[in-house]
Amino acid sequence: MHEAAISDQEFALFQRLIYKIAGISLSDAKKILLVGRLARRLRAYNFATFTQYYRMLANGEHPEELQTMVDLLTTNETYFFREPQHFAFLRDEIIAKRNSAAAFRVWSAASSSGEEAYSIAMTLAEALPSTPWEVVGSDISTQVLAKAEKGHYSLARTDGIPPGHMKKYCLKGVRSNAGSFLIAPELRQKTSFLQINLMHPVEAAIGEFEVIFLRNVMIYFDPQTKAKVVHNLLPRLKPGGHLIIGHSETLNNITDRAICVRPTIYRKP
Ligand SMILES: C[S@@+](CC[C@H](N)C(=O)[O-])C[C@H]1O[C@@H](n2cnc3c(N)ncnc32)[C@H](O)[C@@H]1O
Repeated sequence: MHEAAISDQEFALFQRLIYKIAGISLSDAKKILLVGRLARRLRAYNFATFTQYYRMLANGEHPEELQTMVDLLTTNETYFFREPQHFAFLRDEIIAKRNSAAAFRVWSAASSSGEEAYSIAMTLAEALPSTPWEVVGSDISTQVLAKAEKGHYSLARTDGIPPGHMKKYCLKGVRSNAGSFLIAPELRQKTSFLQINLMHPVEAAIGEFEVIFLRNVMIYFDPQTKAKVVHNLLPRLKPGGHLIIGHSETLNNITDRAICVRPTIYRKP
């Protein structure tokens, strides 16, 4: 079937919509990407134009379709032990130098499909054998959260998981599950996922965290949105706690409420 074309005006409507909902700035260069990702939604509704699809989203009567659009327009690329120096810092600097037996809580604040949260869980299981700990993962996309909750991944995606952790914490599938693995139940029991849109203030009910990972999501935000997101998160970080961001991100000129202890790692005074 012939794919619907998008006009500059129509693209601008979607740019504004995804910016308003998720804070994501889609540059003009992302036009082809947007058409590629949303074309099947137009087909699903038999719409001939993007304007028809936009009107349906904007009239407020189809929240589930709005969520589908968010799921399709977010970029969810992630992998286990991405940027491994952060997990080494967590183990060797934060945990090794801690002198408290209180429960240790870490938040993976744009967790995508869970690889980051479970990499943290494996690190905590090793480093805190006799201290209670918990990992919370969150994302705006319900599609990736459903995958994260299952904790079921392809064996083709295990690069980065240390072999010892693989043996201990990853259960290889057999028969119809061959080629995949499941995160061990003792880690899944201590790891939970929920939908949180970082654009909104975070409810106090989530509690406070020793460490917040906010990695590879601010690349999609303009400076104003970055500042808003960081200020939404910081109240949930304990004084002295660490905020860890992605390798190509910085909080320079974004906030002075967190001190840079080394590139990409910040501490709340
Ligand atoms: C590229 S992934 C990063 C995953 C992981 N943190 C990592 O570094 O591998 C970015 C994630 O941010 C999520 N995201 C984008 N905008 C968001 C928002 N406003 N609130 C919460 N999550 C958002 C996307 O759904 C996506 O799963």
